[in-house]
Amino acid sequence: MRSRTGGDPAAALVPDRDALEHLLSRAAAPGRTAVVMTMGALHEGHATLVRAARERVGREGFVVVTVFVNPLQFGAGEDLDRYPRTLEADLRLAGDAGADAVFAPSAEEVYPGGAPQVRVAAGPMGDRYEGASRPGHFDGVCTVVAKLLHLTRPDVAFFGEKDAQQLAVVRRMATDLNFPVEIVGVPTVREPDGLALSSRNRYLSPEERTSALALSRALHAGRDAAARGPRAVREAAAAVLAQAASASPPVDLDYLALIDPAGFTEAGDGHTGEAVLAVAARVGTTRLIDNVRIAL
Ligand code: PAF
Repeated sequence: MRSRTGGDPAAALVPDRDALEHLLSRAAAPGRTAVVMTMGALHEGHATLVRAARERVGREGFVVVTVFVNPLQFGAGEDLDRYPRTLEADLRLAGDAGADAVFAPSAEEVYPGGAPQVRVAAGPMGDRYEGASRPGHFDGVCTVVAKLLHLTRPDVAFFGEKDAQQLAVVRRMATDLNFPVEIVGVPTVREPDGLALSSRNRYLSPEERTSALALSRALHAGRDAAARGPRAVREAAAAVLAQAASASPPVDLDYLALIDPAGFTEAGDGHTGEAVLAVAARVGTTRLIDNVRIAL
């Protein structure tokens, strides 16, 4: 499908469902449509997802990036209104990374009847950790992901491991509700100093950014303690975060958790095998999340 030949490196902007439908009807060879769902403000982490998608479906495949800031997944007082919108730059970044098209619908296009009455419930997995801090967040994510899967009809969908709980919930939704799509997780991309890439990093002042490095430092300290077991992992990470709580500006911890990725439940002190060490904290007005995978 790669019809863009030199010239304009930006991916084609697809503003509505009709245009998307038209494109999909003449798109890729069977089995070779990939989607990367985003809320825009794309960065190198998203580019990595797009490159993974392109690599997977090949030159003849079709890679669509969705850009939609989904109001349903933001709670009252969250950053919906100030969420960065950078569509022109997004088209270029997506195109450079290998996307064919960027589907960037309006809220009316996605929710033509207004806020949907029927929604997808994320269930207990969506009530813990991020879900406990952001009630309803994963119902909003599942609802829009389900809709975007219907609209883009991909064979494979790529999500970042940085949003580990989102990835777990979306995987579970695809399994439980028989979505005919393969969900692929892509490792987190970090700055050289360890900060996980996030569209929200642009909110950080230089001082806040320095304080925010405690998140990845804590996770790496936890991972370094893996040979001594789950309790040591938690303690090593918690010690870094305790220090960061009195930094200037401080890191205000929301949660630090060692998680069994199977059901996204707390990993007990006897847990062995894979685990996810996850952290959420606020620095200034910015809420950040990060995680690493640990072999115990
Ligand atoms: O990870 C995100 O950017 C969003 O939660 C997603 C998956 C695009 C749904 O709005």
